[in-house]
Amino acid sequence: MSTAISPTAYNYKVVRQFAIMTVVWGILGMGLGVFIASQLVWPELNFGLAWTSFGRLRPLHTNLVIFAFGGCALFATSYYVVQRTCQTRLISDSLAAFHFWGWQAVIIGAIVTLPLGYTTTKEYAELEWPLAILLAIVWVTYGLVFFGTIVKRKTKHIYVGNWFYGAFIVVTAMLHIVNHASLPVSFFKSYSAYSGATDAMIQWWYGHNAVGFFLTTGFLGMMYYFVPKQAERPIYSYRLSIVHFWALITLYIWAGPHHLHYTALPDWAQSLGMAMSIILLAPSWGGMINGMMTLSGAWHKLRTDPILRFLVVSLAFYGMSTFEGPMMAIKTVNSLSHYTDWTIGHVHAGALGWVAMISIGAIYHMIPKLFGRAQMHSIGLINTHFWLATIGTVLYIASMWVNGITQGLMWRAINDDGTLTYSFVEALQASHPGFIVRALGGAFFASGMLFMAYNVWRTVRASNPAEAKAAEQIAVVGAH
Ligand code: HEM
Ligand code: HEM
Repeated sequence: MSTAISPTAYNYKVVRQFAIMTVVWGILGMGLGVFIASQLVWPELNFGLAWTSFGRLRPLHTNLVIFAFGGCALFATSYYVVQRTCQTRLISDSLAAFHFWGWQAVIIGAIVTLPLGYTTTKEYAELEWPLAILLAIVWVTYGLVFFGTIVKRKTKHIYVGNWFYGAFIVVTAMLHIVNHASLPVSFFKSYSAYSGATDAMIQWWYGHNAVGFFLTTGFLGMMYYFVPKQAERPIYSYRLSIVHFWALITLYIWAGPHHLHYTALPDWAQSLGMAMSIILLAPSWGGMINGMMTLSGAWHKLRTDPILRFLVVSLAFYGMSTFEGPMMAIKTVNSLSHYTDWTIGHVHAGALGWVAMISIGAIYHMIPKLFGRAQMHSIGLINTHFWLATIGTVLYIASMWVNGITQGLMWRAINDDGTLTYSFVEALQASHPGFIVRALGGAFFASGMLFMAYNVWRTVRASNPAEAKAAEQIAVVGAH
């Protein structure tokens, strides 16, 4: 095998832009998370204003962390991975630029409209119809650039990471367009095209698969590239990765009804959602094991490489949250966990432990390569960040387990005469210490992002334009 430098170069500009914005939106989204967590400790922080109230800032937090932070991480890495594994430049620079600026415009739209109270009221799909349409156009552009690049690839086969990214792109488009079908009555107000239980079912088909395809499948694409790269080992089993892919995408789509247990949804649909969620444990753990086992023979690297630690610990949290999820989908368990902080703990085990940690690891891997440096400015700071993130996540989820189970048990406790043992306020008072610990854990996690920003800034500042340009050259392995 010989390595030759091809005359063409990768489009790293859009990758750099999305990578930097991942850090920026991460700080803002998580900073807002700490703020709303503090509002639950000190309600005075609502300031008596509608715009700064918990109810309006909470959806802004979820939009910023999922779509701005998570989205930018997925776009940066998918454009990086698709180019490198297909050994070709993105099919169109201008469409990629439109994708970048269009996406930032949608986020700015969210920052303006959500605090003003404009919302469809559908969780994770709050943006009103003009922004939803812009988002759909930007998303289709993304699909064109990604799949167009796959079509013009120089390699024979399509690396499995791209399969996961591809499924994430196709299914997210389908979910967004179907769930957003609505009738506008003014520029800022629309009504869902569906009604009653059907509306709820469509919404949670969307909501669950937003978790399944946005927060899971896309990040698995990231895992399949960055874990082997950082560990400098081939993926443990390529065959398992293919089985993992087909099993995951076939099963995820049926599990949505577990969000609607004990509601007006037909009982058979609830039971189907429960059964499919339990089966989902198998492919989820298949993927987690495939990632973990990639480290066989390379475990010692964890002692010195904090980037690898981010990636491996993210897989551990992925395994944990995909064990917890199927348990919570069992109707009897859900009757205790639903409406409580247990759900919030589960969400952040996935969101902080899995989504944020794997993104952070991938960004640390890419930044030096994108800016023509040998490594990040400070490995010590990455290590500090790693511990802040890990301790922060553990504080967050442990406090929410305690709160969740306490709330569930207090709400269901009844006296001999059938009256409730505790009032709602008593359960809220019992939750207060947990809220404080959660805010503290969140502050740990968010402060780690500030270390990251400093480290990235120092690495970028030390970038040598000539070396950065050279790094863009496509090294064609096996060319003669
Ligand atoms: C510093 C880090 C973070 C803090 C302090 C934080 C805090 C919070 C708080 C206080 C809530 C509202 C909980 C409630 O209503 O009782 C929340 C909700 C949520 N957060 Fe975070 N968050 C953080 C990071 C993230 C990240 C990185 C993600 C996603 C990638 C995320 C996704 C969500 C989601 C999906 C919800 C809604 C959960 C539900 O409705 O069940 N958060 N967060
Ligand atoms: C096998 C995998 C999983 C299953 C079966 C599962 C199952 C569940 C269940 C049963 C709930 C509670 C529904 C309720 O009572 O309302 C839930 C909530 C949630 N899960 Fe998971 N989960 C899984 C993995 C994950 C992962 C990896 C993430 C994040 C990356 C995640 C994010 C969420 C979110 C955001 C919610 C809250 C939705 C809401 O009410 O707003 N889940 N999940």
